[in-house]
Amino acid sequence: MSEKREQWGSRLGFILAAAGSAVGLGNIWRFPYITGKYGGAAFVFFYLLVVIVIGMSLMLAEFAIGRSARQDAVGSMKKLGGGAWTIVGWMGFFCGFVILSYYAVIAGWTMAYMIKSLTGLMSQATSGDASGALFGAFVSNVPQVLTYHALVMILVSGVVYLGVSGGIEKCCKFMMPSLFVILFFLIIRSVTLPGASAGLEFYMSPKLENLTSEGMLAAIGQGFFSLSLAMGIMIVYGSYIPKEEYLPTSVRSVVIIDTSVAILAGFAIFPAVFAFGIEPGAGPGLTFVTLPVVFSKMPMGFIFSLAFFTLLFLAAFTSAISLLEVSVAYGIDQLKLSRKHSTMVMGGLIFLLGIPSALSVGGHIPQIAGKDFLDVADYVTNNVVMPLGGILITLFAGWFWTDGAKAEITDNGARVFLLYTVWLWICRVVAPVTIAIIFITGLKW
Ligand code: PHE
Repeated sequence: MSEKREQWGSRLGFILAAAGSAVGLGNIWRFPYITGKYGGAAFVFFYLLVVIVIGMSLMLAEFAIGRSARQDAVGSMKKLGGGAWTIVGWMGFFCGFVILSYYAVIAGWTMAYMIKSLTGLMSQATSGDASGALFGAFVSNVPQVLTYHALVMILVSGVVYLGVSGGIEKCCKFMMPSLFVILFFLIIRSVTLPGASAGLEFYMSPKLENLTSEGMLAAIGQGFFSLSLAMGIMIVYGSYIPKEEYLPTSVRSVVIIDTSVAILAGFAIFPAVFAFGIEPGAGPGLTFVTLPVVFSKMPMGFIFSLAFFTLLFLAAFTSAISLLEVSVAYGIDQLKLSRKHSTMVMGGLIFLLGIPSALSVGGHIPQIAGKDFLDVADYVTNNVVMPLGGILITLFAGWFWTDGAKAEITDNGARVFLLYTVWLWICRVVAPVTIAIIFITGLKW
């Protein structure tokens, strides 16, 4: 008999852990921006459709695979599919490992900006140029960036080291509610600023004509990334779900939390940005350059700046935990390491792999074919390995592991999953075809 596998301690704890993985930087710095750009409420409607049809189906498939096999991603695919299917597990492992190496670097920036909020950021970032220069100087400061990267990896490893229910679940049970409290605090400040309505107008007013095919592709890519799919995470988290849990309900809760945070984040950001007459951008530019300027113009801006960067840090941290757990589970299940050893080895290796990413943004190492190392790592995982993984997982569940998936989802027929046939055909045709389209369109370097 093998040793008993760790499990989540409670339903809520597991849902918050999975939602913690899903809610990340993408929800806060990317979703609101693409919504504003591609048609406001019209875009949100399309996004919801994508998330409900493809996102939920793929998440259900991943949970089912993990819970049935009760192994890490590689072990699960080896056990249920065998042969070449094992590669799908490896792809997940690869994504978790590589994504964390640069995600931890960015999480480190958010930590630095939490501290900077209290130590002069507000008096320095008073214009776009000044704020841009400050950010540029920070990311090229090697000792600082590496210190924060190391700190994040130490903290994340500390949580994962403590185990599934004792570390990951406990941490997410505290961090996710805190994230919601901070988010509401920021929304209230933002929408009550004079001139906030211009931001609401930009963000939400439905503009069907802006929902272009480019916008639709952005929605599909975002939905996929935002739910942390196709990188082994939900297989691994699924492997700790107790047998009596009904998987479709859990999927629904995780998706509702992830989508609400994404939509709410826009209400915290745009009213404030527009109230001060600033052009919004996306990604690191929006968060580390534009928003500090906005905060510097608010009364008591340091409080809101601190709150915002804490929000980002919490979002990034719970995602980073899930990424590390993919590698650690591999070490435990495949390499037969103890959780403690596996965490130290994987955490250490990922820290090392993050060093070139950390250095690349400040221009300290040569670019690879015109891209920073960090962008290359991001590109290879998000635009290549993840879409392929998504296609293979849905095909696996839809065509090859059909009976197994059905038995796992319906608890061997004891429960009725009303949408089973719909789910099956989404896995068989709709999801693989749609993902293949984003894959091919997204391949521009
Ligand atoms: N889902 C996270 C987000 O929206 C990103 C993420 C990607 C998290 C990969 C974990 C793994 O930002």
